Formats: sequence, C-alpha cells, structure tokens
Amino acid sequence: MKLSRNELKKLMKNKLMQAGLHEEDAEITSEIMTWSDERGLHSHGTVRMEYYCERIFKGGITLEPVYTYKETGPCSAILDGDNGIGYAVATKGMEYAIEMAKKNGVAIVGMANMSHSGAIGYYTEMAAKQDLLAISFCQSDPMAVPYGGTEPYYGTNPISFAAPTADERLVLFDMATTVQAWGKILDKRSRHETIPADWAVGKDGLPVTDPDLVNALVPIAGAKGYGLMMMVDIFSGVLTGVPFGKHVSSMYYDCSKGRELGQMHIVMDPARFCGLEQFKERMSQVCDEINAIKPAHGFDKVYWPGERAVERIRKQYEMGGIEVVDEIYEYMKSDDIHFDRYDHKNRFAD
Ligand code: NAI
Repeated sequence: MKLSRNELKKLMKNKLMQAGLHEEDAEITSEIMTWSDERGLHSHGTVRMEYYCERIFKGGITLEPVYTYKETGPCSAILDGDNGIGYAVATKGMEYAIEMAKKNGVAIVGMANMSHSGAIGYYTEMAAKQDLLAISFCQSDPMAVPYGGTEPYYGTNPISFAAPTADERLVLFDMATTVQAWGKILDKRSRHETIPADWAVGKDGLPVTDPDLVNALVPIAGAKGYGLMMMVDIFSGVLTGVPFGKHVSSMYYDCSKGRELGQMHIVMDPARFCGLEQFKERMSQVCDEINAIKPAHGFDKVYWPGERAVERIRKQYEMGGIEVVDEIYEYMKSDDIHFDRYDHKNRFAD
C-alpha cells in the first residue's frame, strides 16, 4: 500500500486521537512518524503505531501533561514532561533550546519524564533549519552489554547531530550506539536465518549467530561504542535526574505506567564562533569535498550524512508514495485500538 504524505499523516493522527491523545500531541507525533517513514526509517514509523496506541490507551502516557520549564542559568534549562508523549516533549524542548541559543549563543536543555521520542534526528534538524548547530542524545531501555559484560546495562542510546550549509543541503547524522536494533534480530528469527557474529551475544556474553540465543545487543566498535552509549546515558539520564542505565524502564514492560525517560538537546549559534555565513560556507565546502572523494571499489559515491535520506524521500514519492504494510494500514483504518500485544512483554520477547 502506497500513501501520500498527507494521507499517511492524517491516518496516524486520527488513530492516535482515537487512542486518546489530544490534537496538538497527535499532530506533532504523526508529523515526526511520517518524517521517519518518508526517509526510509521504517523502524520509527507506522510499525510503532499499535504499540503507542496501546500505551496511550492504557494510561502509560499522560494525556493532558503539564510541562514545567525550569531555566537554571542563561544557557541551561530542564523541561519536566510529566510523562507526556515523547515526540511532543522533545519538540517543545527543542523549540525552547532554539530560542535560548538564538538569545544567548548556547542552550543545553534536558528533558525529564517523557516517553519514547522516536528518530531523534528530527529534533536536531529543527535547529539546523534555523541556522543553528545541534546535538541530541536520549536513553532507551537496557538491551546492550557493556563491552566485555554478560548482562544488558545500556539501551540502544542514539546520538544525532545536524548542521546547516550555505545551500539547501543539511547535514544530519543520527544513529543508535548498538550495532543493530532489536527489530533486526526479530526479523532474522522470523525468517529462520542466522545473524552475523558481531551483532549480539548470548547469556555468557560471547557472540552468537543463532538469533534464538541472543541475550543482549552489543555496542558499535567495542569499547569505543560502549563509551559513547555511556555518554548518552550520563547526559540524558544521570544528569536529568531520571532512572539511568539498567534502571531505565522497559518499553513493553508496563503500558499503564509512565516511562520516565530523559533526553538532552545541545544547541549552538555558529555566529558566536567563526560567524554564521562563514560556518555555512565551510559546511558546504565540507559536503562538496566529501562528494568529490573517489569512491572505493563497490561504492557508487561518497555521501555526507543525511544525503542518502534526501534521495530516498525523492525516490519514494517518484514511485507513488510512502510504503505502508497492508496489515498496519488496515489497523490504522479500523476502530480497534490495540490487541494486547505489547503490555508486560519481556524486552527480548517477540
Ligand atoms: P543507520 O545505521 O541507518 O544510520 C546511521 C547514520 O549513518 C545516519 O545518520 C546515516 O545518514 C548515516 N549513513 C548511513 N549510511 C551512510 C553512507 N553510506 N554515507 C554517509 N552516511 C551514512 O541508523 P540506526 O543506527 O539504525 O538508527 C536508526 C534510527 O533509530 C535513528 O533515527 C535513531 O535516532 C533511532 N533510534 C531511536 C531510539 C530511541 O529510543 N528514541 C533508540 C535507537 C535508535
């Protein structure tokens, strides 16, 4: 099933409202989930709809959240999201950070008590579209072993940064700090295929290739990725006052309770450093020079981060719209809100 941007966003928005979300939060959430699907980040698009609806319906997301902003200095603030939907909390936090960075040059805004906020590149892109440089980090539920360990302690803890250029290009980097997402292991399980030995470990902390034996994911680049996932958790969890490390709530454990997650946005005005115009021109030069590098054997081109997503968006629309799995389309059109598929599930359950 292929849908236009407007059709998909409207379907998602209506469904989220049917589950109980109010219109403004449903508007923000459906916009960001559409943004994810249209650029090929299907892991953070329609595939999550039923889970979110179950959580909204069962009370695990505050439907009328009271946001509390506390400005703790000229460049720092904390936003308590009252366990509202993460997409809206992260968006409000970024809007606040953008205004603060425009005024004071730098803004560090922590968000506490929120639910899952999806693909976090959306928020850094918001800042770059306003000629600012941004980084964002957020925690997720413990699924990865610290380097050399046997038990999960950290989540897939993503990192994103975005920067403007002097033209229409926008550099947008956005990644999990684990080699693979849990969804990829489930996919391999369902196909009865093996997984590469560098994706995950079993109960003894050693690599496994049988997806049924996976006990935890592994950090990217061994001890180096482990350091990065720890950094994400320190900035977005330890520092914001919410549960951290292995104490972070599991996505599926209890859909009737708020998740108490944390996120951190850091926004900087390039005008306070080398100057805005100079920064943007230098960023354009970076992109040009990267594109001019001769590709290695087997590669068609050397891309800057975010460039392939632009191509994917263009191709999806040329091919008739955003691809939505038929079953999910039927679900979004139906009167059903959820089928009790997620509540109280173990994070490693399928
Ligand atoms: P990925 O592996 O698809 O891409 C990572 C980065 O590498 C992207 O910025 C992409 O632009 C860049 N990239 C990929 N191929 C490239 C190439 N050939 N040349 C230049 N750059 C290239 O991303 P991953 O790790 O699978 O993450 C997917 C999404 O999941 C992200 O949006 C992330 O925010 C989200 N996520 C959200 C979590 C949450 O709890 N909210 C947890 C974990 C991930």
